[in-house]
Amino acid sequence: MTAVCFSSVSKSWDAATALHPTDLTLATGEFSVLLGPSGCGKTTTLRLIAGLESPTTGKIKIFDHDVTQVPSSQRGVSMVFQNYALFPHLSVAENIVFGLRVRRVPSTELQSRLKKVLDLLSLTAYQERKPGQLSGGQQQRVALARALVADSRLCLMDEPLSNLDAQLRQEMRHELRALQLKLGLSVVYVTHDQTEAMSMADRVVLLNGGRVEQIATPFEIYQRPGTLFAAQFIGSARMNILALEQGRIAGSSVAVTPPAGAVRLGLRPEDIVLGSGPSFVVEKTEFTGADLLLHARVGSQMLAVRAQGKHALAVQGEVQLSWNPLNLHWFDEHGRRI
Ligand SMILES: Nc1ncnc2c1ncn2[C@@H]1O[C@H](COP(=O)(O)OP(=O)(O)OP(=O)(O)O)[C@@H](O)[C@H]1O
Ligand SMILES: [Mg+2]
Repeated sequence: MTAVCFSSVSKSWDAATALHPTDLTLATGEFSVLLGPSGCGKTTTLRLIAGLESPTTGKIKIFDHDVTQVPSSQRGVSMVFQNYALFPHLSVAENIVFGLRVRRVPSTELQSRLKKVLDLLSLTAYQERKPGQLSGGQQQRVALARALVADSRLCLMDEPLSNLDAQLRQEMRHELRALQLKLGLSVVYVTHDQTEAMSMADRVVLLNGGRVEQIATPFEIYQRPGTLFAAQFIGSARMNILALEQGRIAGSSVAVTPPAGAVRLGLRPEDIVLGSGPSFVVEKTEFTGADLLLHARVGSQMLAVRAQGKHALAVQGEVQLSWNPLNLHWFDEHGRRI
């Protein structure tokens, strides 16, 4: 069974096309992440699933039911928004059960579901407080609790952690993922942060300009990016993309052996080994503690190299660099992987 299925779904307004005709299948019980730069259509895709927007073309199915014409309230999905959207004058508990009250869920069931999610998200001690009396992370958990209490099998989340500081964000990533696994939820999660996507997703849906660029597991998309865009969007520091000239890195004497049709060579900074091979001039270094990023000149191109931070004092002037040919990525003139 599939949690979400798009058949030729598109969304346009007079002025803009947010999503070009798209086929998309997200599996049940998976944590799917919609990833891409600002404006690429992530929120629009999520709102189409939720029924908060209707598609310009195409059909949407949720758990194998055609919901294209079904109103949002009857789609059985819950949604967590970026800004939490909590009611400031209601207590934590009342915020959580607000939707259940609207749907006239009987009081005993309402209380038992409330107790369960308060417990699950460690919010029991805070249930009488108002949102303004909570930290950002606690407010975030209330927003999450409100989505979970609905007991829907599909949960949609739009950048739910973006208001949190780096450490809390990391903790919440783990909590959220653990919760999703424990409850067997199907989650569609939106983020523009590739680290977040890579660390949480079963499957990454990479969007670019309203089109799906690649759908793959985090491992696949890192190891075998399907396009130049995917190659540079996934991974930190960014993959080096080098121009080629007659079997050499452009402007240099460094020979590589490109397959037929290759016009660009991709090489990740972490796949370059320091200490043997041809010499290169280091023009700039960036020290981040664990790592040292070297920027070396190769002909007319620059090459970023990730070295261990402890090299910081030793690296100056010229360095010798080499790489395993198996770690090279080749792209054709259309930016597609060869
Ligand atoms: N109601 C609307 N009317 C017209 N254009 C819209 C509307 N909503 C979104 N768009 C446009 O559609 C495109 C995709 O917007 P969307 O909100 O889906 O992007 P996003 O990937 O969520 O970006 P961000 O990471 O900044 O939240 C943008 O160019 C946006 O301006
Ligand atoms: Mg958005």
